[in-house]
Amino acid sequence: MSTLPDASTTALSLIAQDMAEVDRIIKQRLTSGVPLVGEVSQYIIAAGGKRLRPALLLLMSKAIGFDGPQRHPMAAVVEFIHTATLLHDDVVDESTLRRGRPTANQNFGNPASVLVGDFLYSRAFQMMVESGQMRVMEILAEATNVIAEGEVLQLMNTHNASLNESDYLLVIRSKTAKLFEASARLAPVLAHSDTATEQACATYGQALGTAFQVVDDLLDYAGNSTEFGKNLGDDLREGKATLPLIVAMQKGSPEQSQTIRLAIENGDLDALQDIVTIVRQTGALEATQAAAAAEAQRAISALDCLPPSPYREALHQLAAQLLNRRT
Ligand code: IPE
Ligand code: IPE
Ligand code: MG
Ligand code: MG
Repeated sequence: MSTLPDASTTALSLIAQDMAEVDRIIKQRLTSGVPLVGEVSQYIIAAGGKRLRPALLLLMSKAIGFDGPQRHPMAAVVEFIHTATLLHDDVVDESTLRRGRPTANQNFGNPASVLVGDFLYSRAFQMMVESGQMRVMEILAEATNVIAEGEVLQLMNTHNASLNESDYLLVIRSKTAKLFEASARLAPVLAHSDTATEQACATYGQALGTAFQVVDDLLDYAGNSTEFGKNLGDDLREGKATLPLIVAMQKGSPEQSQTIRLAIENGDLDALQDIVTIVRQTGALEATQAAAAAEAQRAISALDCLPPSPYREALHQLAAQLLNRRT
């Protein structure tokens, strides 16, 4: 399993036992009478991943003093939904590397990835129905719907070099932050907390998820492929105008902006090295980092509504540490 930087590893160690229980449920609920379903889903799940969304649900549960047993299957549900989106996303993005190994589409082909993604989505829906709580179903149905919209919106924006920061934000709030928000919101919903607590948890999740995706988009230019477990430059190849490029086009000379514009329009990886240089020279790297930091700070501020505890402290640490993540 890939690891987070030191302090957030510490943050997550508070819920190590809970996470072990979630892993047990994940393994148990992957079963299917159809061998290829098990093979593909084991392949991606056994590769690990950071398990951030279940961790968020569990830390948030502890932070609001909730330790009901429903939190474990619901944490497995959010990881299943996340995994389903990855299976589909790697097909759409034609990605070949995920979690440091060939993607499922690379290994088993596009049809198997799409169909097993559907299996994981529907298994998640079976499990949320078992919760018997309409609010839980409502939140997760809404989240999966918004994620799908975000991915379609991104598809429509492909090779559009005129995308602005607010168009970009709408995509990442939908495709990524929404599931973080739902994971964080499920804790107070399961606990029947008051509306203010639910709102604070949801805001934390949304802001954390936004910061997380901004950093992800930064790592696509400034990361290390081995640590990241994904190929660098994938976003450019896919013609995605992410924040580092949007800012670099604003700050760069007309020639620099034109280099980026053409590369986005053509999905041209030959310009990748030049673009990495432009992103660095124009200060777009720092500006993107600052945008992520502002979202992390928004997450941290939302924690003020929760009572002080080691779990609240861990959530604070998690937001701060995600800014420096390399994996
Ligand atoms: C990958 O999410 C997809 C994005 C939202 C960038 P993670 O980086 O949480 O993926 P894993 O589960 O740790 O591999
Ligand atoms: C991640 O989108 C969001 C979802 C999977 C829904 P990306 O395409 O940016 O994530 P990576 O880079 O493939 O992990
Ligand atoms: Mg992708
Ligand atoms: Mg990406």
